[in-house]
Formats: sequence, C-alpha cells, structure tokens
Amino acid sequence: MSWALTPLTEEQREIQKTAREFAQQEIAPYSEQWDRDSHFEPSLVPKLGELGFLGMMIPEKYDGLGLDTLTYLIALEEIARVDASVAVMLSVHNSLPTQMLLKWGSEDQKERFLKPMARGEMLGCFALSEPEAGSDAASLRTQAVRDGDHWVLNGTKAWVTSGTKGDVFLAMARTDSPSDRRGARGISTFIITPDLPGFAVSKKEDKMGLRASPTVQLHFADMRVPSNRLLGTVGCGFIYAMQSLDNGRLGIAAQAIGIAEAALRQAAAYAADRKQFGKLIKEFQAIQFKLADMATRVASARALLHMSATAKDRGEHMTQFSAMAKLLASETAMFVTTQAIQIFGGYGYVKEYPVERLFRDAKVTEIYEGTSEIQRIVIARELYSR
Ligand code: CAA
Repeated sequence: MSWALTPLTEEQREIQKTAREFAQQEIAPYSEQWDRDSHFEPSLVPKLGELGFLGMMIPEKYDGLGLDTLTYLIALEEIARVDASVAVMLSVHNSLPTQMLLKWGSEDQKERFLKPMARGEMLGCFALSEPEAGSDAASLRTQAVRDGDHWVLNGTKAWVTSGTKGDVFLAMARTDSPSDRRGARGISTFIITPDLPGFAVSKKEDKMGLRASPTVQLHFADMRVPSNRLLGTVGCGFIYAMQSLDNGRLGIAAQAIGIAEAALRQAAAYAADRKQFGKLIKEFQAIQFKLADMATRVASARALLHMSATAKDRGEHMTQFSAMAKLLASETAMFVTTQAIQIFGGYGYVKEYPVERLFRDAKVTEIYEGTSEIQRIVIARELYSR
C-alpha cells in the first residue's frame, strides 16, 4: 500500500527502503517503551546522521544528501509510520533550522553550524512561539537589544521540539524598540546555542502524545549573543520563520500521513483477525465502509502532499499548497486514528495495541506548526493575494 503520485525513482525507492529498514530495526522494538517513559533516545541522532537523514535537503557541498523535497517526505513518512516522535525531530531539524541556515546564513555560519547539523553532529530546533504568542506569532515579546558587538536577549520561548537535546536553536526575537514597534517587521532571527550564559531550558512539557519527543520552554536571561549569530537581515526574522514554516508544514503532513497509514494497516489487520457474531469483523459492511473511507482519505492526503512537494521543487509559490497539505493530512490522521480505535473497540482504548499511541500522537498534527484554523486562514488569504 505504498503509493506515490508518480512512480518513484530508483533513488527514492532506495531511500524509502533505507528509512523503512532503519525504522523497523532501530526504532520499532523500543517505541512503546520510549512513549511510556517519555524517553528521547539520544543515540538515534548520530545513527540517523550516518545515514544522511539529518541533512536530507542540504546540498552535498554542505555535507548533506542534496535530496529533493519529495524524497525527504517519503523517508519521513516511513519513520512516522513507526514512531511519530522520531519523525517530528527529523521534520523540525530538516525543514526549519537547517533550511534557514542554508537560505539566509553566512558562509561562516554554514561552516560552523549547518555542516555539523547536516552530518548529525548537532541537532537543530526552532523557537518562534511564546507562552502568549502562539497562533499570533508576530506578537512575540522576547527582546533583543544591541550592546556593542553583542545582542542581549530576554524572554521565554515555548513549544520547542527536541529542546532538551538541541544544540542549535533558531530563535525569533524583537529587535525593534518598545517606543518604535514595527510589528512583524520588528523581529529578527538569532542562532542560539545552549552554552551561551543566560540560556536555560526552563520547563519540559508533559504531553498527551509524542511523548518521546521532548518539548520545552526556553528562558533567556540577559543572554549575550555575539552579533555574528544574527541570521540574515535585522527585521526579517518573521518572514524567515513564515517561509520556513511553508517547508515545515510539508514535513508535518508527511508525519500525519505516516501515523494515518500505520493506523489503517493495524485496523485492517485487526479486522481480518477479530471474530464477532461468528465471522471476521472485516466481513461486516460497517467495518468495510470505515476501512474504505480511511484508505481513501490517506491516499488523498498523500496525493496532495506529493503534488505540493513537486511544486515546491519546481520553485512554485508554496504557501497555500503547504497549508492545504498539512490541513488535509492532519485532519486525516485524526479521522483515521479515531476510526481505527472504533474498529478495535475496547482493545483500541488500552495500551495493548499501538493504535492507542497513534491516536494520541495524531492530535498534535492539527495544532503545531500552525493549527488547522491558521491553515484555513492562510489558504483563504492566498485565494485573494494572487
Ligand atoms: N512567506 C513569506 N512571507 C510571509 C508569509 C509566508 N508564508 N506569511 C506571512 N509573510 C509576511 C507577510 O507578507 C508580511 O510581510 P510584509 O511585512 O512585507 O507585509 C509579514 O510576513 C506579516 O504577515 P501577516 O500580516 O500575514 O502576519 P500576521 O500577524 O497576520 O500572521 C499568520 C499571519 C499566518 C497567522 C502567522 O502568524 C502564522 O502562521 N501563525 C501560526 C504560527 C505557527 O505556525 N507557529 C508554529 C510554531 S513551530 C511549532 O509549532 C513547534 C515545533 O517545533 C514543531
């Protein structure tokens, strides 16, 4: 049931196979335990780095694999089918901080941060949201003030994926002054490392799902950041974040499709095994209709995602497509995992089968990297903008 809009190239099939085998051997045996213990397995980062999976879309010149977006998303779906927590670590690293450094970083910043990130020696994170700036990201309040050849940062960033293990954080902060607020244009991006004095991981969230992915708050207290850690141009940080989220949302869509595909397969297998009223439950139309709707929605979401990925690689404007792909995929993941639980009945509601974890993991795909409501706003706005 692995399917793409166009036949996969030999390279894409090879990468897909590598991802599938890695997920089966290195992740599947431990996923349940990691979820139960909220454990992020640090050895995965160098192992995935060795495969090149932490620099999938980074050119070879910067130690990456130089793959196109579709190939990256195919690999990501394979990982997400087995463990959505590992998938979000890969998605954020590959879609957000590394892409930001590639697009807007200086050669020195690429040498110092991008190359080791692409090799899997440094894990990247993205720090945009704040406790009071979620959907309204431009209202963020973390303040950066210039002081000689440094910037001094104060504030709190929230919902930072992989935060306890992050080596490089691309953080957005205000560089306008309180007396001259410039809205979205008053925000800049900084390359933050945990060794900077004043940096602290202040809280680890206790989440419903994705429990093996550490999500944290960061606190910056008079954190002195050398001026060569500014990314690109002062005042462009919000634009960088939004453009990067156009990429990031494709990754979350692939993660959601991986979760949905796993739930579909598990429900189909269970229905072919479970007997009630003297026959296998897959023989009841009530179950067949559910499975048919689940399979149709997964195929539709994947088709839109793959179409969006190829459009991106052709250089087309992506904002609307990536919002649509994320919206459809995340709502598909929630629908499919809900139906899967229903097919499992009571056994879906307990931890005996992994479908319970898939249901918990699916929910956040409708929330992070922009809620479904924000995706609808983006899609509707784009209808009138060009
Ligand atoms: N690409 C390029 N530029 C963009 C853009 C895009 N996709 N979207 C907006 N911009 C630009 C606009 O053109 C505008 O530029 P000008 O100043 O030149 O006019 C500027 O950014 C401000 O844009 P808006 O006026 O549209 O801004 P807004 O305040 O109305 O917000 C929003 C728009 C779409 C609602 C945005 O705030 C948004 O996407 N919110 C959701 C935030 C989000 O997804 N957060 C997730 C954080 S990451 C996470 O979840 C954790 C994790 O690690 C996984």
